[in-house]
Amino acid sequence: MKVAVVGATGLVGSTMLKVLEERDFPADVIIPVASSRSVGKTVTFKGKEFKVVGMEEGIAAKADIAIFSAGGGTSLEYAPRFAEAGTTVIDNSSAWRMDPTKKLVVPEINANELTKDDKIIANPNCSTIQMVLALAPLHKRYTIKRVVVSTYQSVTGTGKKAVDQMMRERAGEELTREEMAYPYKIDMNVLPHIDVFLENGYTKEEMKMVNETMKILNDQSIKLTATCVRIPTMGGHSESVNVEFENEFDLAEVSGILQSSDGIVMEDDVTNLVYPMPINAHNRNETFVGRLRRDESQENTLNMWIVSDNLRKGAATNAVQIAEALMKNNLV
Ligand code: A2P
Repeated sequence: MKVAVVGATGLVGSTMLKVLEERDFPADVIIPVASSRSVGKTVTFKGKEFKVVGMEEGIAAKADIAIFSAGGGTSLEYAPRFAEAGTTVIDNSSAWRMDPTKKLVVPEINANELTKDDKIIANPNCSTIQMVLALAPLHKRYTIKRVVVSTYQSVTGTGKKAVDQMMRERAGEELTREEMAYPYKIDMNVLPHIDVFLENGYTKEEMKMVNETMKILNDQSIKLTATCVRIPTMGGHSESVNVEFENEFDLAEVSGILQSSDGIVMEDDVTNLVYPMPINAHNRNETFVGRLRRDESQENTLNMWIVSDNLRKGAATNAVQIAEALMKNNLV
């Protein structure tokens, strides 16, 4: 089994290598692909060193699976070329997510939809993945009417440049505009701005949450509104999620449903000050849910707090789980 990791030198790419190794993915050969700046560097996988190569060499290697995390432009241009060479692409960018001919997969929810014909498979947005993981089993049981979500997102979601910006600001450095990943200081600040602004006043990140949720849950009737916010933290994204259901729910039953759902860990014991936090979610593959409570201002409405490592379940882990599903079902 040959696996190419496109964007292997980046934050998500290097986490992918780690997750593939930790989960003992049966890859004997890894093909790390990055930009020409990184060609010749090496990465270590299962104790062996592999040389970073450029795109053309990556395509020519004819890997069984390529996991992409090198930005939307790179995916748009190169994913079809890998696919033509016979490689099944799992793409972490937003390039293919809303393409009706491509599957958008969170394995716990819809890996069963994958077939041998899926040559480019989209990995959803990080904020969407952790939210739908909790919403899917609740939608099944109580039918979601409307969701109001506010996010508190880690700088790691923007990539290395953003982590550098925050750490250098924290050390008291003044950065030039070119050195900054964000339009403003991020340390000691909060930016209600993730990805670009659209004509309707929302950001692209916010609209990803709306559109991807409907696609993954396969239900265009779910209403969702989002405010996505960048905060000066690493380790994971946090979300305050308010969900209105069609049907009545019992809080203990909701807790039980989430508890028994794959990939979810309940951290919900406020008397002992137990609730999810990015500092604890860091480097974990699970999604943590807590602060379950009724919205007392409206019938059949629930509040919860969801935290997950955006580089793991929000990106690398979800992509590797898709690769595992492909293997398990003999689809590659
Ligand atoms: P490189 O390190 O050579 O720039 P991050 O989001 O953490 O900044 O990482 C982005 C990843 O995508 C890096 O591995 C980066 O490689 C890779 N990348 C960016 N642009 C390209 C490109 N045009 N072709 C191939 N890889 C790219």
